[in-house]
Amino acid sequence: MLQEQIPDLAKYVEPDRVRREVYTDPGIFELEMQRIHERVWIYCGHESQVPKAGDYYTVQIGRQPMLMVRGADGTIHVLYNRCPHRGNMMCGDRKGNAGDFFRCSYHAWTFQHDGKVRSIPMMESGYAGTRYGKDNPDCSMKRAARVENYRGFVFASLAKDGPTLAEFLGASKVAFDDMCDRAPEGEVEIVPNCFRVIQHSNWKIFLENQLDALHPSVTHQSTGRAAHEVEKMIAAKAKKQRGGNAAPLSYHMLSAFATVTIDKWDAFQTLNYPHGHCILTGYMGLRPQDPDTLAYDKIMIQKYGQQRFEEIVGVNIHHVLIYPGLSVQSPLQQLRAVRPLGVDRTLTEIWHFRLKGAPEAIYRRSLAYYNLVNSPATLVNADDLENFWKCHQGLSSDGGDWVTFGRHLGRDIEKNGVVETAPNCGTSEAPMRNQMKAWAEYMRG
Ligand code: FES
Ligand SMILES: [Fe+2]
Repeated sequence: MLQEQIPDLAKYVEPDRVRREVYTDPGIFELEMQRIHERVWIYCGHESQVPKAGDYYTVQIGRQPMLMVRGADGTIHVLYNRCPHRGNMMCGDRKGNAGDFFRCSYHAWTFQHDGKVRSIPMMESGYAGTRYGKDNPDCSMKRAARVENYRGFVFASLAKDGPTLAEFLGASKVAFDDMCDRAPEGEVEIVPNCFRVIQHSNWKIFLENQLDALHPSVTHQSTGRAAHEVEKMIAAKAKKQRGGNAAPLSYHMLSAFATVTIDKWDAFQTLNYPHGHCILTGYMGLRPQDPDTLAYDKIMIQKYGQQRFEEIVGVNIHHVLIYPGLSVQSPLQQLRAVRPLGVDRTLTEIWHFRLKGAPEAIYRRSLAYYNLVNSPATLVNADDLENFWKCHQGLSSDGGDWVTFGRHLGRDIEKNGVVETAPNCGTSEAPMRNQMKAWAEYMRG
């Protein structure tokens, strides 16, 4: 179908540039939903969002309204949020508890947690001799074709065929391993609500920004500078008084945007994997020797032993991008799920997690990062959002036909299907090239 609508896909995607219509054409957006988002593994939510039988949480996969629900036997199901009778939405609330079964608000058909029809009012008198009844699968709520869970993170695919979740994630599963391994109990639990931001830009613009190491020290410079000024002031005061505290760690979270200058970002590295996934290494270094961190370290060493502890906290990740719908910052227990709403509208859900068994102060630290860097209330996020909107405006104009990804082109090192950026090429646009390569593969079907 794509070939009919876009006779020559190669005209739209080249290894180092992409036509602007890829971001702005509503027809291409519809095909992306069919060929990418409604086929591949999409993150639905964390199992701790639905702890009890009957708990449900609604989620958008591509254009499809879905719900994730816990059954009485503990299994998590993912169903289309639609009644098979006359199409009524089953759950109008974002989340809740369905009780022992779902009951449609329109004509009271009821369904088990796995979607199977349970009762139809006056079924015998109403449907005798028709094709409708409990044995007809069309009378049950439709289920996502496939559901899998990796370390508590629930994914669904709306396509019957395709790679397993483990095959799809490949090396990017380190995002969940890194997050869970940092918990003394080996697992995380969700903090019950998230920030939701609707961006007035195409979904791919957000994803391209996630591993764009060239932008932080430019886009977020003013925020970083302001925080660094305060840090310097506090340090000078402490020096003068021959004592006193350094600035709180939260200032460091922001000042890094100014102190890690543009040239330093080249020292980081990206690792680009099949399916468009990518890892940005070179974590900013939030391993201070304050009493809270030391208390956490002690618990971890007791639990895992010194050697395993060093391995766990030594994992060098800043960001993992799981194409096409997830951006994970595992050392800080945060993730952003991307839900395209239209060619120029994208919902991001910004979630964070608690390390089970870790001291409260460690949670507070990740919460500070969540609020200071990833929340819609911070200048950091606002700076990004402004760029996203402006990019979409520019791409909607006739000012040029191409988006270019040429930085450090030709310097990448390819090993067994993994593209690594060369030493001192961390600001390479390899992640964007890798994402568009995956995009073209999916779109070709
Ligand atoms: S639409 Fe659901 S019972 Fe009729
Ligand atoms: Fe940014």
